[in-house]
Amino acid sequence: EKDPRIQGIASSIRVVPHVPKGGIMFQDITTLLLDPKVFRDTVDLFIERYTGKDISAVAGIEARGFIFGPPIALAIGAKFIPLRKPRKLPGKVISEDYVLEYGRDCLEMHVGAVQPGEHVLVVDDLIATGGTICAAISLLERAGAEVVECACVVELPGLKGRERLKDTPLYVLVESP
Ligand code: PRP
Repeated sequence: EKDPRIQGIASSIRVVPHVPKGGIMFQDITTLLLDPKVFRDTVDLFIERYTGKDISAVAGIEARGFIFGPPIALAIGAKFIPLRKPRKLPGKVISEDYVLEYGRDCLEMHVGAVQPGEHVLVVDDLIATGGTICAAISLLERAGAEVVECACVVELPGLKGRERLKDTPLYVLVESP
């Protein structure tokens, strides 16, 4: 019952071993983007899921959430909110620090980007430990928004990021070992 487009998406993702460090299998979605049919299928699967679902904002996580988030936002008639790495946004921001598989980082969002009560979809290319997506959810919830779901192209289920999301649903197209 899996959508036939999923296999094409899975096989277009290049796995680069030991990047950015030993033992990590980098899931490279840039090869997916090189095939316009597969890139279209990827975005379409999300659009089909979220059209008509009362979502007023799509929040994309820098950097690769900026590739998949905007076409979804445009197609479903939602605003796009960039959640950026530190010191990139020029206005007043709220910040959330988080721990990564390899290091620490921080996400920021402009104050006023989202209104209290708005229904938001969070988009990124990949969920590994879930630290990044949890930081995104925290930012949006601190601003009073409701995260209705998180959507990623790839999940690394072995890292159990899904468990960290608790009440927020997670939708992924591809699971990678
Ligand atoms: C990658 C990926 C996710 C995050 C997932 O981004 O695009 O945003 O890691 O990891 P986690 O679930 O363990 O938090 P990265 O931190 O490499 O940043 P970049 O997109 O700016 O290169």
